[in-house]
Amino acid sequence: MKISRRGFIQTAASLAVASLSPVTALAAPPRQKLLRASSVEQALRPGARLTNFWGFNGGVPGPVLRFRKGETVRLLLQNALAVDTAVHWHGIRVQNAMDGVPFVTQNPVRSGEQFAYEFVVPDSGTFWYHPHQSSFEQVPRGLYGALIVEEDRPIEVDREWVWVLSDVRVGDDGRQVEDFGRILDFANDGRLGNQVLLNGKAAGSGHSFEVRSGERIRLRLINAAAARIFQLELPGHEMKVIAFDGQAVEPHVVESLTLGPGMRVDLVLDCMQSPGSRHLLNDVNRRSAGPIAEIAYRNVRAVRQKPSSAPIRLAPNVLREPDLASATEHYIMFQGGMRGAPAIGIVDGKPAKTHELMEEHGLAWTMNFTARHEHALMHEPFLNLHVGEHVVLKMINETDFVHPMHLHGHFFRVIAVDGKQLPLQPWRDTVLMGPRQTVDVAFVADNPGEWMFHCHILDHAAGGMMGTIQVG
Ligand code: C2O
Ligand code: CU
Repeated sequence: MKISRRGFIQTAASLAVASLSPVTALAAPPRQKLLRASSVEQALRPGARLTNFWGFNGGVPGPVLRFRKGETVRLLLQNALAVDTAVHWHGIRVQNAMDGVPFVTQNPVRSGEQFAYEFVVPDSGTFWYHPHQSSFEQVPRGLYGALIVEEDRPIEVDREWVWVLSDVRVGDDGRQVEDFGRILDFANDGRLGNQVLLNGKAAGSGHSFEVRSGERIRLRLINAAAARIFQLELPGHEMKVIAFDGQAVEPHVVESLTLGPGMRVDLVLDCMQSPGSRHLLNDVNRRSAGPIAEIAYRNVRAVRQKPSSAPIRLAPNVLREPDLASATEHYIMFQGGMRGAPAIGIVDGKPAKTHELMEEHGLAWTMNFTARHEHALMHEPFLNLHVGEHVVLKMINETDFVHPMHLHGHFFRVIAVDGKQLPLQPWRDTVLMGPRQTVDVAFVADNPGEWMFHCHILDHAAGGMMGTIQVG
């Protein structure tokens, strides 16, 4: 239904008289969007054989969901898969019941059933969505997409690109290799694909993006891979970071950009190379090195000779500033994995050694000496905080592995690494913790509920590196 403003006021007025509830009558109805999870067949390159995925709304990645800051959104998930699922809105500070975590905030959505999510998007920024059910399998099968919340006053750019990075493991026949859930992947670096994907297509030098010399581009990067850590470089261009995980930072140039699973970065690129030239964005991570995409300058006149002088600092979201002087400190110890010191952990109430964890329980990691299965998470938080508590989490990584640690429902400031204060203590929802590193983060626990805290290498999470933090 479309009604004119006058018509709306009249309708609202008559409703107000009828129901004596002008507030409800005047509130704008939330915009509903449909997300249908189903099998998808998609070619990784033009003309290539079809690869089998699971995807939202018939594609991989799913649709880019775009909202305005502060609006109420309604997302109807329809499960047309053969298995249970649920959708989590990574980085959105939703109310707990809408967080999409099966066995914690909702029941799994069964095959053929649906679930309506409704929440306010309080922060502008670059976010994403993905299932939180068997995510080590459902995410790499293709269930993920970008969720963008626009600023009230966006920065001025000529163009915006949303790049969802991921990977897939395919055989010679183009079909996915369906070897999910192997304990060897859980206990090592996680399951890597053999083909990097950019927006669902094969990444590489053949994946070309056209620009005009002089153009300013806002690039929203999302790492939706289950386990791959990207380290990106773009020679000949300044990568100006303006946001981490959707939250504004003081704009600064980086030579190299590390993006762990779950993480996002917003960049401003001033494309100042000459018309007709071509440049590669490379992943230089030693485990996966290769080009991701090509920036191809059109052979036409430059749109400007000097980079645009328009400001690129984003207006920050309102987040409660933790008071370090009064904050309570909590330690979180991480142990386990195939290499390094062995761990002993409690599983289902009984102690187990590393090999028992692996062989008898299919687990490989402990947090505070406990390893949990996804279905055993319900209401067994490993940390209890009260609402409004100022908190410093001191994370101690005793493993020989990198872990991108993610907290739901909140953002934290990354304040120190190995005891050294960081100059730029950025807000993040996911932080990379290097082997044997300690990382301190601080936040105000102001969102009540039971919130997931887990490694975003999804095989690690499934291997025990997940738990919940109860707020209130
Ligand atoms: Cu991106 Cu717990 O999730
Ligand atoms: Cu991990």
